[in-house]
Amino acid sequence: MPLPKAELHLHIEGTLEPELAFELAARNGVTLPYADTEDLREAYRFDDLQSFLDLYYGLMAVLRTERDFADLADAYLARAAAQGVRHAEIFFDPQAHLARGVSMGTVVEGLWRALGDSEARHGVSTRLIMCFLRDESAESAMDTLMAAKPHLDRITGVGLDSAEVGHPPVKFREVYEAAAALGLRRVAHAGEEGPPEYITEALDVLGVERVDHGLRCMEDPELVARLVRDRIPLTLCPLSNVRLRAVDALADHPLPAMLEAGLRCTVNSDDPAYFGGYIGDNFDALPLTDEQQRELARNSFLAAFLEDDEERRAA
Ligand code: HPA
Ligand code: ZN
Repeated sequence: MPLPKAELHLHIEGTLEPELAFELAARNGVTLPYADTEDLREAYRFDDLQSFLDLYYGLMAVLRTERDFADLADAYLARAAAQGVRHAEIFFDPQAHLARGVSMGTVVEGLWRALGDSEARHGVSTRLIMCFLRDESAESAMDTLMAAKPHLDRITGVGLDSAEVGHPPVKFREVYEAAAALGLRRVAHAGEEGPPEYITEALDVLGVERVDHGLRCMEDPELVARLVRDRIPLTLCPLSNVRLRAVDALADHPLPAMLEAGLRCTVNSDDPAYFGGYIGDNFDALPLTDEQQRELARNSFLAAFLEDDEERRAA
């Protein structure tokens, strides 16, 4: 039996396996610039975050209908359940779909078709977190938040992802203030490729409750002390870090040292179809003791947004 755990850093578009990509391409009459699934997998050699993002956004062309988003999410939830996931907080990137003429309603209601049945079908409870693309403008992020208003009963929080360097958290101050006023929880990617200062800014300016990745905090001992003191959860993704070259090799991954430092770390899969494994594979990739594995699993539930959204909004 795999260890029960919560997954807190998972981009649903990053679960698009090559086989499903070709199936959806055929269903929607989309021509992919790859001969077959093997040819596509050959392209999964990344130099950094941007080289991955180029492929990730490109392949989204096959996602067009509610059914496509439902099939994508249901396939992820089945795989996650098999690796012990009992609760999943799922990121989605609406701007990448709106830009292709796919509506917010298609994306959210499509995902919800799978998420709404997930407890019954897979034994996995779910939350949705809408991410803003930080390399797009703050105005575009605000427009996206407004477009999501009719769907807020489906959305628990907001996040910030895409190309990090040069797009500091402060750019999104007003958007996060508006999200907080709407009762949304707040997280942000910070300290993946960007400097430790972006982590501090995400906490101080955006008011985030969790930091996604955050591994570059290790360059700043005062920041580490603050994160430990305030028990700020970090959602680490070891296989992603190696594939995108945030760390040189799994043996160099700072996660064991981060646990040692007292940080509230969790292990997650980020974009499992692209990075060579789902959450259990990420746990297995690192030299962790049984006690460390249990600590990581415990942290994942402590860091989850598990209370009822309606109760929280009414409070
Ligand atoms: N970092 C930033 N943006 C992303 C990622 C990531 O790891 N995955 C999907 N969008
Ligand atoms: Zn991510």
